[in-house]
Amino acid sequence: MAQKAVWRPRLAKRVLQIPGSGIREVMSKSMALRDAGKDVINWHIGRPDFDTPSHIKEACSEALRRGHVHYAPAAGLPQLRCALAKRASQEYAGDVDPERVVVCNGGMEAVTVILHTFLEEGDEVIVPTPNWPNMKWAVAMAGGKPVEVPLQQGVLTAKAIAGAVTHRTKFAVLSSPGNPLGTVTGSDELKRISKVLEEKDLMAISDETYTRLYYGGSSGSTAPSILGIKGMSQRCFAASTFSKTYAMDGWRLGWALCPDAEAAAAVAKTRYYFSACSPTFTQHAGATALSSSQDCVAEMVAEYDQRRSVLVEGLRTIPGLKLPGGSPEGAYYVFPDVSSFGDSAELASLRMEVKFPQSRCSPLDTYWRSTTLPWLMEASSAKKGKAISE
Ligand SMILES: Cc1ncc(COP(=O)(O)O)c(C=O)c1O
Repeated sequence: MAQKAVWRPRLAKRVLQIPGSGIREVMSKSMALRDAGKDVINWHIGRPDFDTPSHIKEACSEALRRGHVHYAPAAGLPQLRCALAKRASQEYAGDVDPERVVVCNGGMEAVTVILHTFLEEGDEVIVPTPNWPNMKWAVAMAGGKPVEVPLQQGVLTAKAIAGAVTHRTKFAVLSSPGNPLGTVTGSDELKRISKVLEEKDLMAISDETYTRLYYGGSSGSTAPSILGIKGMSQRCFAASTFSKTYAMDGWRLGWALCPDAEAAAAVAKTRYYFSACSPTFTQHAGATALSSSQDCVAEMVAEYDQRRSVLVEGLRTIPGLKLPGGSPEGAYYVFPDVSSFGDSAELASLRMEVKFPQSRCSPLDTYWRSTTLPWLMEASSAKKGKAISE
């Protein structure tokens, strides 16, 4: 008798077209090794190894004690929106209205809800490559078509954007400091990009996740932003997050800065149907993070900067290994070219499976990030200095 076929739920085409996360795959493998008692230093995920500063945690506890445990407005608590607008006014040297801010569950949700609010099916979005892979797939999940445009000397140039524009292009994504190269787009290039955005009538999403992890200016400065260029706040969104600046990646707190209150209301409407709102007590903590001393940020950035030097110098001593982006100006990654050793995915796996003495880590606990760039792999400098130099 013929066997009855097992009934399976049918996946949406939208989901079938996207791969699982390579980063998470390597993370699961390394967690399994750790569970098996191996001494593994995790360099696979771009998250700070610092604890969230205690005054921010205390603000969260206090909010919980005070009973801030109920729904918040979809666009966020007014005090957090105000604090974010104040911060944006300082960063972009302009007067930013709090009504332009939408609090989201991390930078990832900020990007997602902006895309879902403005993309029509098949609209094209220019995405720099190499880049944090989630961006490309967030575009696809929103019904858009990601158009990958290679970075030139680590930067998405105005010329490259202009060359990739079609009648379907709606957004260009700018990511500076970028992940994984840590390169920063300078003000002159941003001005050229602003002209292209105007000429081609495009919008931009400026991914500013790492803007405060910037080693190119004086202490406390942020990387240059397209939103700081005259006229650009009308057509540019910023997506940002507390995750990296304040070591709050597990809190899932970020925000979208929109061109105007109307655009923000539309983004807030979209985000309402994703997740209703961000947790109320974490928003109180976010407001404290912004309004209290920024010394904790300066300390973490100084430590990342030191680790960056150790990592870059160390990698430079390894024959056959190249650093195409040079020393990163921002974020906490380096992105060595390991092509002379073989495929980066295999290499990352091999490094994890190779037996090494329990007390030591491998000199290059690194991982592959993008299957489209199999010759490159990424090492995160968000790890302790000792581990890096080992
Ligand atoms: C370039 C970039 N953008 C956005 C994000 C999202 O950050 P969040 O953890 O706040 O969602 C990340 C996270 O790694 C990132 O690397």
